[in-house]
Amino acid sequence: MARDPRYDVLFEPIKIGPVTAKNRFYQVPHCTGLGWLRPRMVAALRGMKAEGGWGVVCTEYCSIHPASDDLPHPYASLWDQGDIRAHSIMTELVHEHGSLAGAELWIGGARSTNLFSNEVAMDVANLPNSVGIPYQARAMDKSDIRELRRWHRNAALRARDAGFDIVYVYATHHYLLSHFLSSKTNSRTDEYGGSLENRVRLVRELIEETKDAVGDRCAVAVRFSADDEGSDDDNPVTTEHREMLEMLAELPDLWDINIQDYSHEMGVSRFIKEGSLEAHMSYVKSVTTKPVVTVGRFTSPDAMVSQVNRGIVDFIGAARPSIADPFLPKKIEDGRIDEIRECIGCNICYTGDSMGTPIRCTQNPTISEEWRRGWHPEKIPPKGSDSNVLVIGGGPAGLEATRALGRRGYHVMLAEAQHTLGGRVSLESELPGLGEWARVRNYRIHEIQNMHNVDVYFDNLMDVKHVLAVEANHVVIATGASWLADGRGLYNKTPLDELGPPEQVFTPDDIMAGRLPEGPTLVYDDDHYYMGNVIAELLRSKDIPVTLVTPKVMVSTWGDKTSEQGRVQRRMLELGVDIITSHTLIAFNGNEAEIECAYTGNRRNIEVDAVVTVTIRSPNDTLFHELQRSLEIGTDYKPNSLTRIGDCLTPTIIAGAVFSGHRYARELDTEVDPDNRMKYDRVFFEDE
Ligand SMILES: Cc1cc2nc3c(=O)[nH]c(=O)nc-3n(C[C@H](O)[C@H](O)[C@H](O)COP(=O)(O)O)c2cc1C
Ligand code: SF4
Repeated sequence: MARDPRYDVLFEPIKIGPVTAKNRFYQVPHCTGLGWLRPRMVAALRGMKAEGGWGVVCTEYCSIHPASDDLPHPYASLWDQGDIRAHSIMTELVHEHGSLAGAELWIGGARSTNLFSNEVAMDVANLPNSVGIPYQARAMDKSDIRELRRWHRNAALRARDAGFDIVYVYATHHYLLSHFLSSKTNSRTDEYGGSLENRVRLVRELIEETKDAVGDRCAVAVRFSADDEGSDDDNPVTTEHREMLEMLAELPDLWDINIQDYSHEMGVSRFIKEGSLEAHMSYVKSVTTKPVVTVGRFTSPDAMVSQVNRGIVDFIGAARPSIADPFLPKKIEDGRIDEIRECIGCNICYTGDSMGTPIRCTQNPTISEEWRRGWHPEKIPPKGSDSNVLVIGGGPAGLEATRALGRRGYHVMLAEAQHTLGGRVSLESELPGLGEWARVRNYRIHEIQNMHNVDVYFDNLMDVKHVLAVEANHVVIATGASWLADGRGLYNKTPLDELGPPEQVFTPDDIMAGRLPEGPTLVYDDDHYYMGNVIAELLRSKDIPVTLVTPKVMVSTWGDKTSEQGRVQRRMLELGVDIITSHTLIAFNGNEAEIECAYTGNRRNIEVDAVVTVTIRSPNDTLFHELQRSLEIGTDYKPNSLTRIGDCLTPTIIAGAVFSGHRYARELDTEVDPDNRMKYDRVFFEDE
């Protein structure tokens, strides 16, 4: 299909200093949880973005020296020859597709504890470690600043030698350079502190020195916050940072603009919508003639075009949209915008960096698997036989298995008990703020609808007899999981002795089915992610008084990994939810709930009319086990395989279910070595 001419502007080449990007699609720096630890995995991941049409593809934050080490978060590094070799795998793959490669040089300052390198962290002043590790960064003296400038220059030269086309000065995200800029952290009395001119001095020096070192061949970009500390979502404050931008306006070749509040810049869709940085940064193009890029979880080509045409940006920056769909630019170029796999704003991708593990994505199960499993997000090998496949259950796992099997060319029969597809995704996307999660379902339904080899049977609650009657070659059970209603979970290892009466006890399944409590309700959150607090929000919207009890020390502890915890806790407080942390639910008798302090064992009672238990889920695997038994006993027909996937195999996050369905489809009729299911990436040894 031809590209819609409305989107032509997105495909104009743009000059960035000495280099030219082939279009306006710019993958801004983002971590992968791979960094220097997994060079081939990360190179293949970046190469895939270039293949998918991104005109610029950047690294993650890339340490310039061992004095800036962020383990357990696997940053990239540009310390030595080995790093140059590792990065050049990426730059070659990116260049193969005519894209530019960018390296984000990073100095952590008080945010890096240096637990790997054991170097003492340095910053603008004597500062506490900003992630709460009981270390401090020492104040840099003039010779330290000179050393830092030398490290930065040498790292820029190594970036150039690794083949990068764009080299960053990274002056934001509360790392060292932003501490120099901020009047809150910069207490210096020398020429690097005090006035704005003094506070921008180091950034200015680094821009000039990077240009001097590599500027003949590489563009120099600066990542910079458009707003000041103290901004909020709706009221940007852009006084000091605007002045700083004006001072430095023409120095770099490109401005990569973000904002102070990371939980906004990279906000989950529950709180932050597409294009939300505009109010904070729309002035930037008026103070510089250099190209400007910003972010905003852009997945709509119309929103992108609007940003360009209204003169807000020159490039469309993207981290998450490029993770969810590395082929987003190509799909726009080919006039296939309805095939875009839109990011849902869940931030599961960020948990990879938070936990030091390879990046995963709810929408894109192939991310991180490009090299080690050879998975391509858009291509899948043709079927390995003429077998047909019966998939039972159209939730995220069943839908993804059906989609990917259908793409391989198998005849797929998808049986769904309900009248609609999507399973838990459809239900959960009806909860407050989670509407965009329906994209997981919508993308897959759209793909399946166009496949002649896929038949979907609605209102088909299958039992053993039905399954056997189909006589499919392969049977896949994807019947999901159900929330337990007995209080059992992470903290209560056994069911509660007293939890009733049943009509006053609810699970998330009840709530999502529309069975709601009446009167004051205790939501017991032993799941620690979104479900407990989203249900609390739903009940508050019905004016039901809510007490949220959790055994952990704060609400939604795992939400910390997705960068949403602070906003969740604030939302609960703003909604008037009474929060009780560090307590476990012990009993409920219909009038009172008994809770126990996780530390002292002290117990107390709370008067409530209802309890919602948000604990763990149990696989809906009865059909699987009954089928297995029937097949063991002996039946006339026997499928070649009977497999369970997704939450039916083991309940997990939606990303896990999608991955499970995808993996099943990929591996059907292929040889998978049971002892070595994937290639193992690791750091290269030096030759010498
Ligand atoms: C998984 C992940 C890792 C990130 N790592 C970095 C990083 O290493 N350096 C950086 O400057 N920004 C990083 N960011 C922030 C992004 O560059 C970007 O500003 C933010 O995600 C908003 O853009 P988006 O809405 O297109 O995702 C990261 C974001 C994500 C989602
Ligand atoms: S994990 Fe979620 S937020 Fe991250 S890219 Fe995928 S869909 Fe978007």
